[in-house]
Amino acid sequence: MKKTKTISGFSKLSKTGKLKWLAENFFSDPTAVIDELKEYWHQNHQQQEVLDGFSENTISNFPMPYGVAPNFLIDNKAYAVPMVIEESSVVAAAAAAAKFWMSRGGFTTKIIGTEKVGQLHFKYFGDKEKLKLLFPEIRKALYKETEDLTANMQKRGGGISQIDLIDYTDKEKGYFQIFAKFQTCDSMGANFINSILERFGSILENFLISYPNLIDQDRDVQIIMAILSNYTPSCIVRSSVNCTIEDLGEFPGGMSGATFAEKFEMAVRIAHIDPYRATTHNKGIFNGVDAVVLATGNDFRAIEACGHTYASRSGRYQSLSHCMVKNGTFKFWIDLPLAVGTVGGLTKLHPIAKTSLEMLGNPSAEELMRIIATVGLAQNFAALRSLVTTGIQKGHMKMHLLNILNQLNATPDQISNANEYFSDKLVSFNAVRNYLEKEKI
Ligand code: MEV
Repeated sequence: MKKTKTISGFSKLSKTGKLKWLAENFFSDPTAVIDELKEYWHQNHQQQEVLDGFSENTISNFPMPYGVAPNFLIDNKAYAVPMVIEESSVVAAAAAAAKFWMSRGGFTTKIIGTEKVGQLHFKYFGDKEKLKLLFPEIRKALYKETEDLTANMQKRGGGISQIDLIDYTDKEKGYFQIFAKFQTCDSMGANFINSILERFGSILENFLISYPNLIDQDRDVQIIMAILSNYTPSCIVRSSVNCTIEDLGEFPGGMSGATFAEKFEMAVRIAHIDPYRATTHNKGIFNGVDAVVLATGNDFRAIEACGHTYASRSGRYQSLSHCMVKNGTFKFWIDLPLAVGTVGGLTKLHPIAKTSLEMLGNPSAEELMRIIATVGLAQNFAALRSLVTTGIQKGHMKMHLLNILNQLNATPDQISNANEYFSDKLVSFNAVRNYLEKEKI
């Protein structure tokens, strides 16, 4: 068969057609790859159609582990939290941190804000002072002429909460923004915000065209683009834990609570000082955050992008979490921007996102913010606890060993013996394979 490698009209092929073309052009054993990918098709044809509808050019599904971290006590309510993540140790670490804090009063959260942001970017070459003078009237028109779009959201308690004109002409000739803030209740609000912003563009153009007694140049506006901003520094939740140093207990190797607290606080300070460490520190936080965001059908790219911008708000990339050890008390908290939804988007369409939300008691968006920030904090606590006590490899290696043993089809007895054998040895694929081969003799 002649390999073509490029194609026009790929999207118009049937799913089988796409699979066949790919398999024949990019794989050495087309039949095997077609069979493999077909194995992951949903047995229920209708469900498969729902999944295919989320994206384009789908040929199969890509499975990811769906785990649960139980024992999260958040604002005195117990949760079992669904997590979708491929990295070993993350769910175990979240569960261990949740359990640790459950016996110390659990996590306390606070919603600091829920405001979302959108921008209409435009160029204006007229008299900018006149534009600024007209803006109160323009603002009125922006509210009034979007009422059909905001009516439902207003009934639910949301809508547009602020509209400002921003002059960026010192940075770029003619560049202005209409910077708007929104309350989107239980939805993430992307469609709501983007529809309003696009409408803003035509309202602005029409306003300037029809306003009496303006010279032509003062009517000259060029809309560049209208889009929400994923940076939502006023959509913030705080999750925190605290206990006395005494209640921290003792840590591996006989480390006292006081030494642990001191090292832990220093570890957080390091992530405030040094961006190299801050990146890894925050990555650990997003291990937890993304896993719940994904499990609940939310947009993890938006959450990550926002979190990293927020982490840089001082002008230097820093830790998202904070620690204070003072007057015999250990306090650890995170302030995290989280624009998530529990209605709309994939949240109810994705069959398992729906299950995740039910597992969490069908939370409001605010409650989901509280849960997600808490899992991020728990994940960070677990990572730092390992790092300042035993080191991260001990736990990781245990999971790594299990993965290798499973890959080599070890029996439950072999797994238990191997765990003991490797407790003080270096784990590698070869070492585990050799061990299993010797065990057979
Ligand atoms: C690994 O996925 C995450 C950690 O590196 C986070 C950290 O170092 O704080 C363990």
